[in-house]
Amino acid sequence: MPEQIGKRDSFASKFGVIAAAAGSAVGLGNIWRFPYITGENGGGAFILIYLFFVVVIGIPAMMAELIIGHRAKRNAIGSFRVLKPNSPWVIVGYMGVLTGFLILAFYSTIAGWTLHYTYLSIIDAFSNKTPEQLSNIFEKFHTSALLPVFWQVIFMIFTAGIVIAGVSKGIERYTKILMPLLFVILIILDLRAVTLPGAKEGLNFLFKPDFSKVTSVTILEALGQAFFSLSLGMGVLITYGSYIEKDNKLINVASEVALFDTLVAIMAGIAIFPAVFAFHFTPNAGPGLVFKTLPAIFQQMPAGYIFAILFFLLLFVAALTSSISLLEVVVAAMTEELKMNRKNATLIGSITITILGIFATLSFGKLSGFLIFKKTIFDLLDFVSSNILLPLGGLFIVLFVGWVMKKDDVLDELSNKRKYGVPYFGTYMFLVRYVVPVAIAFIFLYSVGIIAK
Ligand code: PFF
Repeated sequence: MPEQIGKRDSFASKFGVIAAAAGSAVGLGNIWRFPYITGENGGGAFILIYLFFVVVIGIPAMMAELIIGHRAKRNAIGSFRVLKPNSPWVIVGYMGVLTGFLILAFYSTIAGWTLHYTYLSIIDAFSNKTPEQLSNIFEKFHTSALLPVFWQVIFMIFTAGIVIAGVSKGIERYTKILMPLLFVILIILDLRAVTLPGAKEGLNFLFKPDFSKVTSVTILEALGQAFFSLSLGMGVLITYGSYIEKDNKLINVASEVALFDTLVAIMAGIAIFPAVFAFHFTPNAGPGLVFKTLPAIFQQMPAGYIFAILFFLLLFVAALTSSISLLEVVVAAMTEELKMNRKNATLIGSITITILGIFATLSFGKLSGFLIFKKTIFDLLDFVSSNILLPLGGLFIVLFVGWVMKKDDVLDELSNKRKYGVPYFGTYMFLVRYVVPVAIAFIFLYSVGIIAK
């Protein structure tokens, strides 16, 4: 067994494990991105393909991360060092930490916007504005220099404030409150949306499978969305898995988190599309859908003032519980690998991420002309981390469990040291050895533009 390091924090309850992991998975990817790409890719048909990938690829890959972390009881870097000493596999851990750093830098830009929009909805800034005026408000805000940076910094202070408090007293404590809150808000918004006159058209758009729109690109798009949405490929679940001490079955953690993540994505679609159709907006407005179209909808809707506040609060909460998981990957690595204390690691980690993040934020305005490989800083961070580093990390993680770890050790983890039977073990090994790596390799090649585009 690995050498012992100082006493590690852990999740204090089974529910805390699920809340934290689901908190990581449920984020801007579910509430903004999922509805939008579903709309563009044939609605119900896309959802069916997405569900298939969540089950066949997402859950096994998520289990692989949990197995590694739970076995090694270390951060994303240390886990590989402990399980395969003196081997290049540790690079996968370094890559994960770097990816967390890069994702949080641009994620906090959008998260800052959600805070500004929560504030705007509280001061009732949307009332009596035309859609054009609301669109101008967004254009002016997100391209300006000071305000988006201000909100980004505030958002990072929230994130760091939770992470600094530790795993059980910070992450677990807050996600246990925030995740149920998020769910309640989403239910309220769904009830409002489906009772709007004209809601049916929106629901049809979302659920009526239109297989004529399904192409090979759609299929790969669904696979990529599953990856990003489930927080796979950079060691979030290695890190969180290392904090599991209770008798959680790893397969249950993975399937419950995947189920909840998918439910939230679909519920976000139900909250958004009926309203878009009821008020005659176009469903494929991209990033503007949330920040331009929705304020316009809310201010035409009875009790829209309250619903606007609830919606942007929901987005903020979703972003916050995801960003703490991203920061935790970085902080856990710094405390264990560099022997830093948690406070210093959190401060140094969050300050450096914020500095990089400010460049991402400014790349919508002042730095919009500064291009690297024809991309703004924001787009480059997004592209490199989501399309290259995540799939590559995920590929190596499943290969590690499928081919490098001892089969007996994998079985130990899935059976909680042979306490439970694992009738699906053969299927699981087949999936992580062959099916999942091939599928991920496929998205990866697609993402870097070798197969399609
Ligand atoms: N899963 C988050 C979302 O859907 O918004 C984003 C994310 C968090 C991606 C953590 C990757 C990650 F490691």
